[in-house]
Amino acid sequence: MMKKLIRDNISKIQPYEPGKPMEVLRRELTLEGEISKLASNENPLGPSPLAIKAIQKSLGDGHLYPDNSCYQLRSRLAEHLGVSSQNLILGNGTTELILFIGMTFLNPGETFIMSESSFIMGKLVSQVLDSKLIEVPLKDYCHDFDSILKETASDTKIIYVDNPMNPIGTMATKGEVTRFMENVPDDVLIVFDEAYYEYVNQENFPNTLKFVEAAKNVIVLRTFSKLYGLAGFRIGYCIAKEGFIEAIKKVNPPFSVNRFAQIGASAALEDKEHIRKTKEMNEVGKKFLYEHLERMSVFYIPSQTNFVTIDLKTDAERISKGLQKKGVIVRTLTMYGKPTFIRVTIGTLEQNKKFIDAFKLIYQNKFSNED
Ligand SMILES: Cc1ncc(COP(=O)(O)O)c(C=O)c1O
Repeated sequence: MMKKLIRDNISKIQPYEPGKPMEVLRRELTLEGEISKLASNENPLGPSPLAIKAIQKSLGDGHLYPDNSCYQLRSRLAEHLGVSSQNLILGNGTTELILFIGMTFLNPGETFIMSESSFIMGKLVSQVLDSKLIEVPLKDYCHDFDSILKETASDTKIIYVDNPMNPIGTMATKGEVTRFMENVPDDVLIVFDEAYYEYVNQENFPNTLKFVEAAKNVIVLRTFSKLYGLAGFRIGYCIAKEGFIEAIKKVNPPFSVNRFAQIGASAALEDKEHIRKTKEMNEVGKKFLYEHLERMSVFYIPSQTNFVTIDLKTDAERISKGLQKKGVIVRTLTMYGKPTFIRVTIGTLEQNKKFIDAFKLIYQNKFSNED
């Protein structure tokens, strides 16, 4: 018999489905006019203008390999975060770093724990690396740390906690995280993925950098894709103790963080105006969406992020297709086992209005045969 070339666990994996790009939707539906892409939690204001300027200025250096150590950006970021630059490693997006963390720490057969409906990259990495995956059900749409602790055993290697959670939008509080850290065994690596932390507007969000400072077995992940608007440039980072950073470096292919991403990220960190406008627009847009959804008696999960997750209590794929025909792209949560939910990125005022107008028409007709 011919031997199978592709590893068994790879054949079993459901591939990750990113939000539909605007170009694809336009082609498929021959749509004209503006499309509101509210499917991937991108920054509706675009990249930081200071980042664009700095990148444009450096385009002539495109023939040169980037600085593999990201020295300048690490120094700038270290200052910004109040950590040492030895505690930082940059990656081609946080998603890549989640894979590198898996490759660095996870032996086949060891257990990877995460919550159900947490960001799917952890699950993919665990499947690729042949680890044992445990997905713990949520409690009231939040991480259930007591149940996570109950599942933790001697073969548990990594517990992945996205905080705030994507695609749910809720956050774990300082008290919850502190209690969890007090009770979790010392030989388990805790990964806090804080891709949306800059959007949090509650006081009691945990400061996980203090665990890194205390040399705990903790890795904190953050990204330039959301608040700073650099998703297309691909850049994110890990904050961890030096020993962990040095180990992750060993699996990191050379030059994975390109020159323009490094330059853009350094500039974006300084762009106070873009940061302020982004946060302000997000808060205003969130309120707008909440108000309209409440008026329609539609259930949504209050969010600490730049998106709102909605339970339509009906087939979300159908509603999503209807929205696409009206030029609005949202994300269904079918991949996350929630076929009645959609996730809507908070856009500009105009995009939010376009979503609400289209949604009103389609949702109110949900029981008719109209598509
Ligand atoms: C929790 C979480 N982590 C990481 C990412 C990906 O970030 P990056 O663009 O840096 O790969 C996302 C993207 O949506 C996310 O929701």
